[in-house]
Amino acid sequence: MVQFKTLDDLDATGKRVLVRLDLNLPLQGGKVTDLTRLERSLPTLKELVNKKAKVIVLSHLGRPKGRNTDYTLAPIAAALKTALKPRDVFFCEEPQGPKVIQAITHLMPGQILLLENIRFVKGEEENDKEFAKEMASWGDIFVNDAFSAAHRAHVSTEGIAHLLPAYAGRLMEQEIKTLEKSLECPELPMMAIVGGEKVSTKLPLLKNLLPKVDFLVVGGAMANTFLAAMGHAVGASLYEPELMKDAIQLMKGGKVILPVDVIVAEGLGNPKNHQKRSLSSIGEREKIFDIGPETIYHILEIMKRCHTLLWNGPLGVFEVPPFDYGTNAIAQGAARYTAQGNLLSIAGGGDTVAALRHAGVLKDFSYVSTAGGAFLEWVEGKPLPGVKALEQACHSVES
Ligand code: 3PG
Repeated sequence: MVQFKTLDDLDATGKRVLVRLDLNLPLQGGKVTDLTRLERSLPTLKELVNKKAKVIVLSHLGRPKGRNTDYTLAPIAAALKTALKPRDVFFCEEPQGPKVIQAITHLMPGQILLLENIRFVKGEEENDKEFAKEMASWGDIFVNDAFSAAHRAHVSTEGIAHLLPAYAGRLMEQEIKTLEKSLECPELPMMAIVGGEKVSTKLPLLKNLLPKVDFLVVGGAMANTFLAAMGHAVGASLYEPELMKDAIQLMKGGKVILPVDVIVAEGLGNPKNHQKRSLSSIGEREKIFDIGPETIYHILEIMKRCHTLLWNGPLGVFEVPPFDYGTNAIAQGAARYTAQGNLLSIAGGGDTVAALRHAGVLKDFSYVSTAGGAFLEWVEGKPLPGVKALEQACHSVES
């Protein structure tokens, strides 16, 4: 179990609190198109404002590689102001330097200041020690509420935690506790669903999950590699011959559940021309784009008996109907079992969240992580530098 200090341990009154959020939100034409991460960051901000802290918010947006106005946090600042009304939220158009110092000096208890994209500073991604010292001079306390950026060892996610008393924000706390519960002490039986395109990108995750779960459903194009390894002809479907050996190894324990029937078409251009196929009847020019109805039934029957579900990756090309049918049906089934109180359902990863939203069940899962890459690395069993730094900060205070 990861140990860290939380806002419960923090006396923030009148203090300058540097809060790392992940406000890396999707934007279109300068407007935020999905406020989820911002909304999930609000409890920490509101709590600190109520405690009369001077709150200084740090975040990145995109991967700007130096200063680049395309990646300004200005539109995010506007959204933050709206979400926190009537509280005072200010935006500093610099991420570093005299303007930042001036803005912090003028900040009153209970006010919030968002700095410009922290990745505009060269030293940020290099975890530069000098920049870390400079950042530490802006505050008295560091709060990390950006679990979704915790797989990065940058100044604002890692370096700073060694220089100031460091605490986890409410979202960070919730993400760690929920994911720990699902992976370290799940209520059994447990099912994991892993989908997506390539076995190669998810191999460490599959290997780490397998001993922890009772059933491992493999779907999406990834499943084709497993089917090919079993000797099925997968037509013109995407698969990775070089990973067939790994697939065979993973299947040995008998926990892997694969499609027993599939939906195929010759391409995504004409989705109306799709067919249901058994595994022995896939044509040479056909490509697998979704799981079939028997597979859906089979997965849901097993899921019905499970008490924990961890989901990462869609089961078909959900962006192109009707190949969303399988993912939708499984997602809706999981939501139903969750509502019945039988299942703790946890999901994470960019595509997964989009797929659950598409299926209309995003709010019906027990927990949906805000993290993409960080979620994957956590499930792979990799230590996350941002989380590790909080843990070290906790122990160094204790000793
Ligand atoms: C994410 O969207 O996964 C986080 O904001 C991390 O972004 P990064 O992959 O650019 O570090």
